[in-house]
Amino acid sequence: MVASVVPIETDYLVLGSGVAGLSFALRAAAHGRVIVVTKRAAEESNTQYAQGGVAAVLSPDDTLDAHVADTLTVGCGLCHEDAVRIACSEGPHLVRELVDRYGVSFDRGRDGDFALAREGGHSARRVAHAKDTTGREVERGLLAAVRGHDRVTILADHMAIDLLTMQKYGGPEGCFGAYVLDQRTQEVKTVVARAVVLATGGAGKVYLYTTNPDVATGDGIAMAYRAGARVANLEFFQFHPTCLYHPQAKSFLISEALRGEGGVLRTRSGESFMERYHPMKSLAPRDVVARAIDDMLKKTGDDSVFLDMTHLDGSFLIERFPAIHAECLRYGIDMRTQPIPVVPAAHYSCGGVVTDTAGRTNLRNLYAVGEVAMTGLHGACRLASNSLLEGLVFGARAAEDARNATALRPPAVAPWYAGAASDPSEAVVVTQNWDEIRRFMWNYVGIVRTDKRLERARRRIEVIRDEIREYYWNFKVTGDLLELRNLALTGHLIIECARRRKESRGLHYTLDHPEIDPRFAVDTVLRRGDGPDPA
Ligand code: SIN
Repeated sequence: MVASVVPIETDYLVLGSGVAGLSFALRAAAHGRVIVVTKRAAEESNTQYAQGGVAAVLSPDDTLDAHVADTLTVGCGLCHEDAVRIACSEGPHLVRELVDRYGVSFDRGRDGDFALAREGGHSARRVAHAKDTTGREVERGLLAAVRGHDRVTILADHMAIDLLTMQKYGGPEGCFGAYVLDQRTQEVKTVVARAVVLATGGAGKVYLYTTNPDVATGDGIAMAYRAGARVANLEFFQFHPTCLYHPQAKSFLISEALRGEGGVLRTRSGESFMERYHPMKSLAPRDVVARAIDDMLKKTGDDSVFLDMTHLDGSFLIERFPAIHAECLRYGIDMRTQPIPVVPAAHYSCGGVVTDTAGRTNLRNLYAVGEVAMTGLHGACRLASNSLLEGLVFGARAAEDARNATALRPPAVAPWYAGAASDPSEAVVVTQNWDEIRRFMWNYVGIVRTDKRLERARRRIEVIRDEIREYYWNFKVTGDLLELRNLALTGHLIIECARRRKESRGLHYTLDHPEIDPRFAVDTVLRRGDGPDPA
């Protein structure tokens, strides 16, 4: 492994290439040079797989107050109302900008206006969408603009190892860049910037079953925590109620928009069961639906429940959900005539790196935007389709703020030091630990938790993290090892947040404390070095 000695200089370093990172990059490029670092191809982000759409008040029949109220209700008392109001009021303009400036094509109704879908927890049709592949269309538009911009450089197949902080050099808390592994050459580059932006997305791979792509390994949360940034509310991991259940299907989401168009959840025997759990039935908030399915699976002993669309017009289904229809057909399921087998799967991290409404973290010049951030928008549970919205709004706001960032720099920047590390000799350590973490996180820190399960998970993760530390310092870093290290730390932080919340609220449900407790109506904040927080 080689380390570049001369740092690469830029104004803005963006880690991640989903909607939040690209929104930041495009705005920031008006004021300086931008480098976007991305682990695989630039398209490969959670954004690319978002099906439902962007929630925004775009119809005269809807109101800002209604969107705010729905978000607050679903967030179960933990939303930060300022962040909610900002996201809901600035979103509509940014959705229109996607169309006018970046050529993003949303579905239109007969009147030429946005065709708006309904999803769980929404009191109105409010979700702008591009059939059932909205994220792909948004990503396409933004990436085309980024690729055509002469001030933005994309470093694909590059992965950030750690943030560069002033504290390491005896200075005040602040960030000035990152060590970045070029996964094609194994060279470690030092990139220094006026502002560093975490836009690394989510952490679904911490769980055995997830709708997320392989890149969602909690990198930003882990790097930020190691650097001394505050993280919060990681116990609120959202499980999407409907992931396709089929032995050969990997992580395929069945959008909530299907229930928005009238889909009904049923047991194998055909009973519609959601009325037992919530007055909004199949369109209840996600945490309620996921728990109800989990409960039904335990009661019936079945492997899945079923989403029934067969009472709807077949040609409408194909027109509205072409990608989902095609994917189901690959597995021999025709949703026009057969209910779709579905199970819940880990989908979205509502917690993350704590930021203010300008995307600022507690480390100077370090920003976090999109799923990696905890802006306060989602509280204890995210309202459907508020995530692309969050990326757009806070990506733009952070870029506006970062214009004023003044560079921090130690007198000399040390290049990456690989020491006496040798080539990995036992890659099996990585696969073994990776599998083990994801399985016990699913079983012990999943939809339904208990104090005992969380304690078991804590003990396991501490042993595994010790093993990973030893391996990390003795062997040369690889992308797989870096991901495992981040995944393990993120899992540990999720467990610690969950252990501290002795109540059930939103996405955190524990049999030992099954009610909401007003004493816990606060964020769970962790920071390295503060008392008993993980190392
Ligand atoms: C979906 O299409 O169901 C996902 C939308 C979201 O996660 O907000």
